[in-house]
Amino acid sequence: MRPPLMIFNGSSHPFLGVELSGHLGVSLGKRDLHLFPDGEISLAILEPVQGTPVYVLQSLGIDPNFHLMELFILIDALKRSSAEKVTVILPYYAYARQDRQDRPGSPITAKLLANLLTLAGADRLIVIDLHSEQIEGFFDIPVEHLQSNEVLIPYCKKLQLENVVVVAPDKGGIRIAGIYAKELNAPIALIDKERLNPFEVEMRLFVGNVKDKTVLLVDDMCSTGGTLVNAAKVCSDLGARKIVAAVGHGLLIGKSLEDIENSTIELLITTNTLPVSDQVQSHPKIHVVSIAPLLAEAIQKSI
Ligand code: R5P
Repeated sequence: MRPPLMIFNGSSHPFLGVELSGHLGVSLGKRDLHLFPDGEISLAILEPVQGTPVYVLQSLGIDPNFHLMELFILIDALKRSSAEKVTVILPYYAYARQDRQDRPGSPITAKLLANLLTLAGADRLIVIDLHSEQIEGFFDIPVEHLQSNEVLIPYCKKLQLENVVVVAPDKGGIRIAGIYAKELNAPIALIDKERLNPFEVEMRLFVGNVKDKTVLLVDDMCSTGGTLVNAAKVCSDLGARKIVAAVGHGLLIGKSLEDIENSTIELLITTNTLPVSDQVQSHPKIHVVSIAPLLAEAIQKSI
């Protein structure tokens, strides 16, 4: 008898694949992956997938160029093995920040990636916290856009924070801040972020009041940590009592972990859309909430 679905994991995020398969009660599909001496990827599907809906999980936050190529090859192998439908799960969609031509001569990498995924054979996509909503429209295949706040807001509620103001650290964060504010029944404040040069930004509170409040800083991602750390400083300087941050994607690159530890942020809540390093796991100020139940629910609803 054919299984109702199969899950194949790319090599980018082994733990999330295992967790997801546990939630769904299916074992991960077997595949062989190694590198040819020249660095090319050799990949083969080791079990029959003919006529079976297949889900392929790959997070593109770390080493995105390798993991993208691996994903394209995996999709191609599944299509050539007659999988019924290939749904690609991208907990983190790479190249998303270039989603429009912001200066002459620049590419739109978010659209390029949409084209490449479709060309490789993806029939459907499940993504989490796209950098901008317009990326959904770059696809002609169905896109299910999940929101990390579905797991982050319940965790924030458990903290029973008092006298909260939800703060967007830049204009792009207003939509997410609105969702948190509504769910937590809290007011909103907005920080204006102006880039002075490629290395320096200036921030100031633009709307709202943070004095004596518990600030909940929300954003789609924390990469170098600069945005959150600087926004937290603006709020502390204005008399905020306590600062908690919540972000969907914890890229946490460079010296972000050190900067967060030395910042006025008391707690940063994030998810495992990207692999969670031991340093993140044991960081005194970071708590990771799993995204696996959200993905499992989306898959269960779709079969
Ligand atoms: C910007 O548009 C994003 O929403 C994030 O605010 C930004 O990518 C965070 O980057 P970093 O942690 O390097 O400041």
